[in-house]
Amino acid sequence: MTVSLESYVKGLPKAELHVHIEGTLEPDLMFELAKRNSVEIPYSTVDDVAAAYSFVDLQSFLDIYYEAASVLVTEQDFYDLMAAYLRRAAADGVRRAEIFFDPQTHTGRGVGYDIFMPGFLRAIDDLEGEVGISAGLILCYLRHLSGEAACETFREASAYHHRLLGVGLDSSEVPNPPQLFADAFELARVAGLRAVAHAGEEGPPAYVTAALDHLGVERIDHGVRSEEDEVLVGRLVESEVPLTMCPLSNLALGVLDRLQDHNLKRLMDRGVKVTVNSDDPAYFGGYIADNYVAVAEALDLSRSDLAQLARHSLEATFASWEDRAGWISELDVYVAGHA
Ligand code: ADE
Ligand code: ZN
Repeated sequence: MTVSLESYVKGLPKAELHVHIEGTLEPDLMFELAKRNSVEIPYSTVDDVAAAYSFVDLQSFLDIYYEAASVLVTEQDFYDLMAAYLRRAAADGVRRAEIFFDPQTHTGRGVGYDIFMPGFLRAIDDLEGEVGISAGLILCYLRHLSGEAACETFREASAYHHRLLGVGLDSSEVPNPPQLFADAFELARVAGLRAVAHAGEEGPPAYVTAALDHLGVERIDHGVRSEEDEVLVGRLVESEVPLTMCPLSNLALGVLDRLQDHNLKRLMDRGVKVTVNSDDPAYFGGYIADNYVAVAEALDLSRSDLAQLARHSLEATFASWEDRAGWISELDVYVAGHA
């Protein structure tokens, strides 16, 4: 029996490797938290929100996204945000989620690690039991702030280093190249953590190369512009460094004008380990399965291409070898059952 594209995609065991927890704040929860915490927000209806979410580039999105985070105040707020995301991801077939959070967005307004970390961790522990999803956290440094501020942010997290998978780098990409954050990534490496970074979303391929050379990253978040540098593409293929691509995000932020122009399939066909992810699903019109479906339709991907993307995602997680092998066998069974 041939199932619909949506049902096939949702059933594929997969990993989400590029999602910002603050980017999963749905308008309904934003309204609820604004009320709960008596925080003023510039919207009164879902239509106001929809009208505001029309972005022209990364910065126009970030301005709205940081402002919305002000409704997150208590430990329970962070719990609710994380729990809602994990439930939603599990419904899309996500077995493993490696989730970004931006501590400086919260510490900068007086909400400390002692508030958000217990909320995130309690939700992860509860939802692992409730829906069987495995999840971990990646602390992202905000690159519009200084390298020294990033080091301080990592030190402030010391009570939670053992509960982190790694560190990442996000926010306004240009003109903030990766090498400015080399010291902050070195601190994380010494603490035994893994490393990823946003690069080549709006910034040039040289930022991707710099993230590999100066930060020692094991995955590149986005990496769309890597294709402009032949040597870099060869390096990505040879080193098997995955790209965590987010097609609906790229469309919403004007990285490309049409999804049909996305280079995900071209890069995959050249041997780059490409994955599909959601980035900020509450803002860009879709969770991970929506991204798979949209890109499948736009680029005419086969079911075997979709299974390959899911396989890449499971191989690219920072989970134990045993866990990865278990999810990959589940994927093999699923693929064989839908041949
Ligand atoms: N923070 C949240 N989403 C982001 C993106 N797409 N690029 C950079 N920083 C981000
Ligand atoms: Zn991102």
